[in-house]
Amino acid sequence: TRPLKVALLGCGVVGSEVARIMTTHADDLAARIGAPVELAGVAVRRPSKVREGIDPALITTDATALVKRGDIDVVVEVIGGIEPARTLITTAFEHGASVVSANKALLAQDGAALHAAAEANGRDLYYEAAVAGAIPLIRPLRESLAGDKVNRVLGIVNGTTNFILDKMDSTGAGYQEALDEATALGYAEADPTADVEGFDAAAKAAILAGIAFHTRVRLDDVYREGMTEVTAADFASAREMGCTIKLLAICERAGDGASVTARVHPAMIPLSHPLASVRGAYNAVFVESDASGQLMFYGPGAGGSPTASAVLGDLVAVCRNRLSGATGPGESAYAALPVSGMGEVVTRY
Ligand code: HSE
Repeated sequence: TRPLKVALLGCGVVGSEVARIMTTHADDLAARIGAPVELAGVAVRRPSKVREGIDPALITTDATALVKRGDIDVVVEVIGGIEPARTLITTAFEHGASVVSANKALLAQDGAALHAAAEANGRDLYYEAAVAGAIPLIRPLRESLAGDKVNRVLGIVNGTTNFILDKMDSTGAGYQEALDEATALGYAEADPTADVEGFDAAAKAAILAGIAFHTRVRLDDVYREGMTEVTAADFASAREMGCTIKLLAICERAGDGASVTARVHPAMIPLSHPLASVRGAYNAVFVESDASGQLMFYGPGAGGSPTASAVLGDLVAVCRNRLSGATGPGESAYAALPVSGMGEVVTRY
């Protein structure tokens, strides 16, 4: 069987782990897919940086030429941000590749257009890594729960802010000190404003709400409040009430299911609640649905290797589809439920 060719766009915290695991798990990946996968090119901004384990001949600064090559089966986009990622992904579809992306900001803004581009070219767009790192959430919502009716998705979807809030609460660390540590550990975004002001969590809420409720929800639809104003005094008051403070993303049906609300804001959580014990950069998400009742998804929500785990799972799925000639679930069966950003704001759960 001919090897499937993979182009990697971005080789930072996540990309370098994807490349590493593709090499170390090459035999397992080939066995699971039914064909070997070969790294055909790695597009980077700074070619001079030393990248252990990657053949220097694969490194290029010309991402556009890489996605236009025409022999690439799968493009893995882990650059982040809107441009050039959006144009590169669209170009990849036009040149016959499927795409695996971890880009929550882009998917929350332009998910509909990107899916349309994938479908128009008969290719796949998978993005398990865009929400909650290693935790399987997109596929369970889209596939395992496809026969059920989801009513609410609620949880912690940003590792950086959970790490900071946890440090502030448990060690009395200052905000900046905790943020610096989260950045050093590879959890924070390139611009951590996206984390601490809630944009990252809001993008993830938009993606989750869209999939859970089969509608289109965009970043701008999500009510958003970050955690920069949470102080040591707030933690002290929360503790007096037997609570802690978490940044929550809440997506739910409203108006008897006729509309959807999505919001991100800090909330007090009783210490007895499972979300209160989510420590460090871990994430946890509750999904409530008619038939299943309540499900909880929990695990590492940020960082290179957990996020790479989700990327590689998608890579296997997309490669299998390439070989079988199938495509994954599209998004054509969407209803146009009205979205209102602000539901009833409950600050205590
Ligand atoms: N900055 C993000 C976080 C990375 O802290 O959750 C994972 O999406």
